[in-house]
Amino acid sequence: MEDLRLDSLEGVGPVTTRKLSDAGVHNVMDLIVRGPVEIAEITGMEKDTAEKIVNKARQHLVDGGLIAKHFVSASEIYKHRQSIGKITTGTNCLDTLFDGGIETQALTEVYGEFGCGKTQFAHTMSVMVQKTKEEGGLEGSVLYIDTENTFRPERIVSIAKAHDMDPEKVLDNIIVARAYNSAHQVLILEEAGPIIEENNVKLIVADSAVGLFRAEYLGRGTLSVRQQKLNHFVHLLSRIAETYNCAAIATNQVMASPDVFFGDPTRPIGGNVVAHTSTYRIYFKKSGKKRIARMVDSPHHPEEEVIFALGEAGVIDPEDAEKKTKKTTKKAAKAPEVDATAKAPEVDATAKAPEVDATAKAPEVDATAKAPEVDAFVESTIDNESEDSEPIEE
Ligand SMILES: Nc1ncnc2c1ncn2[C@@H]1O[C@H](COP(=O)(O)OP(=O)(O)OP(=O)(O)O)[C@@H](O)[C@H]1O
Ligand SMILES: [Mg+2]
Repeated sequence: MEDLRLDSLEGVGPVTTRKLSDAGVHNVMDLIVRGPVEIAEITGMEKDTAEKIVNKARQHLVDGGLIAKHFVSASEIYKHRQSIGKITTGTNCLDTLFDGGIETQALTEVYGEFGCGKTQFAHTMSVMVQKTKEEGGLEGSVLYIDTENTFRPERIVSIAKAHDMDPEKVLDNIIVARAYNSAHQVLILEEAGPIIEENNVKLIVADSAVGLFRAEYLGRGTLSVRQQKLNHFVHLLSRIAETYNCAAIATNQVMASPDVFFGDPTRPIGGNVVAHTSTYRIYFKKSGKKRIARMVDSPHHPEEEVIFALGEAGVIDPEDAEKKTKKTTKKAAKAPEVDATAKAPEVDATAKAPEVDATAKAPEVDATAKAPEVDAFVESTIDNESEDSEPIEE
């Protein structure tokens, strides 16, 4: 966009423009996202000058109607909130919890223990955001920051197929940035501005937002540094979501008690950037094969819980998981009959029936693969209804 160029700001000449772009600040939006203190730090500019430039940038965006003014009436905020985009989760249950879907201009934090479905949710939303507006999407693309090397294009393909979308097109609209360390993770976000704009990014995923920081800053002594750096990342993400009007999802693996990493669990992690920017916290919990999602902190949602499930289509309604189970059971039950005719002379088909059933169900039993990554303590403190001990329901 022509009027977002740095030199469209009065008083910003070629020298300042170069200084800023050398430091990774490419347009007026970036100035707001980074803020005066950081701008001064990274360009070596006087703090006063940086403040003036950032204020000018803010005014420029307010004049252009791209961001809200400092002082606004409640009705203006209400109007503004009506224009916030929502991305459906593709399920009735989670859409009910989110009151329609994930919001733009907001950061949604999803936390829970290993295998609870955070990554599956992130994959599902990366497909859903691409749906048309009539179908509950935003016709936008995705910036997926993968810090744990768990982004799987195959999952995207099956989720897209399950939603009757062209998998190739869906893959093309997901820009994956693999972050190798926490500094790299921050850098990716700092440089994301032009990518977001050029590609009409409507969803930014940080999966996991916290993992690298946690791995690099071990021990009590480093806790405050870690928190400070993590806060920087989360604030940046939150400001980008607000400035570029896109949704942001940050995942956070927590152990049995979810309160340790962001302080008080009832408070938003990123803090509120401005009055109308909200941060949502969702807690995912395993309950046998099903999953429970709880809205933990929201300025306007009631604190409630819904049950969802995981499947080929990503996050799914629990009824759909049951339908699938029934289908599989039917198929499995029929199998021995067919077998019986073909193999009748050699094998006693009837005796084998229960075994066939069990094999057919095996792929649905999960979490075993992930178990070794987790402290023994965590495993033993997880709900009694752990995946493996769950009896297979008929
Ligand atoms: N194709 C699929 N069909 C059904 N379930 C699946 C499929 N792929 C993965 N799952 C389930 O998703 C669960 C893993 O979820 P996910 O990877 O989202 O967990 P996570 O919360 O991101 O965990 P971590 O904290 O370790 O990253 C497993 O229980 C697995 O069975
Ligand atoms: Mg994950």
